Amino acid sequence: MFLVLPGFSGQTEAPAAVLGAAVDLGCGAVGANHPISVARGSLPPLPQRFMCGPHARGAVDLLSSTSALVLLWSDGRAHTSAPAQRFLGTLDLDLGEGIMRECDRFWPHYQEVIRNRKSCILDLAVDCIENDGTRQVVVLGAGMDALSIELCSRLDCAVFDVDSAGMDRKEQLVGPLARDLRGSLRCVTADASKRASVTSGLGGAGWSREEPSLLVVEGLSYYLTAGDLWGLASGFATPNRSNRMILEYLLPTSDIPEDLRPVASRPFDLIVKEAYESVIPLAAFPMPHHPPGLTAEDSLWAFTTRYGPGDVEARAAGLGGAVLSRHDMRSMEMRRTGSNAVFGERSGWIEVCKIAL
Ligand SMILES: C[S@@+](CC[C@H](N)C(=O)[O-])C[C@H]1O[C@@H](n2cnc3c(N)ncnc32)[C@H](O)[C@@H]1O
Repeated sequence: MFLVLPGFSGQTEAPAAVLGAAVDLGCGAVGANHPISVARGSLPPLPQRFMCGPHARGAVDLLSSTSALVLLWSDGRAHTSAPAQRFLGTLDLDLGEGIMRECDRFWPHYQEVIRNRKSCILDLAVDCIENDGTRQVVVLGAGMDALSIELCSRLDCAVFDVDSAGMDRKEQLVGPLARDLRGSLRCVTADASKRASVTSGLGGAGWSREEPSLLVVEGLSYYLTAGDLWGLASGFATPNRSNRMILEYLLPTSDIPEDLRPVASRPFDLIVKEAYESVIPLAAFPMPHHPPGLTAEDSLWAFTTRYGPGDVEARAAGLGGAVLSRHDMRSMEMRRTGSNAVFGERSGWIEVCKIAL
């Protein structure tokens, strides 16, 4: 069943009524009833597997399944330097395998989408460092992605991976690679929805507000409210637009070609199903709106934040910035593969923008 919230799909913020009904269980986990019809206090107890803490297989030791899924689809082809490959070889991606198999049965080209997106974002980031004067890169919601390692192995820059989970583990895994990196890499544990948490974590790790920075937001904007994301981005705004932001985001349903709408939402359907059927703590999916209950049949798609035509431009302009380039799924495919085998006639459901802040 596809969960429909009237008047919500396609908006960049959930209505206050939906937000107000949320139950925060302390670690981003959610209860088990319909988000709209269930009153606070009437939720049944959560199954043990949704709990955070010592009894759960927490995201500290395991990749969140969304990060694992993306890594499985990119299959080591996005970040090909020797240190990135060595790092990727150490990861246990089991958590993503069930979702990947089901997604691939539904539509066989997801991996192309991820590879195109990752290739585009890497190219844009390298360009910022080589040509725009970027000295520091902050990768928000980095998970176990190897973008930071790839950048550090190619270029002399300071990279800061930020995630709410898994960063201690990542720093341990990256430690032995340090002598093969040209740049420096630090892993910071912080909640991207809390600007103060991110800025103090970054400050503690050596990030300087005065040095030109690039903020990379890939695979994360859907899980943050627009207010939280752009509030955080405002901390990177400069008077002369010398900072950069690379933002990957979902489009509203109405802007996605009709035949691709179920393809776009499918992975989000399966995230919840998988969480119910396995031991993945839902804390691995800290949704901004904390829907108070999702059944195994519901989709996170309805709760994702999405940006329509003009939204990103308006948000960037609101911070005194500007969109420098925009890349839809057709252009990302053409850029990486030299042809449009998958997105020949139309584009898809994600875009990447390069923004001056
Ligand atoms: C789909 S993965 C994307 C990983 C990587 N950026 C990529 O695109 O390959 C989403 C990541 O965002 C992280 N995340 C989700 N909500 C977050 C929050 N509020 N603060 C920090 N990290 C968050 C998750 O832990 C996970 O590692």
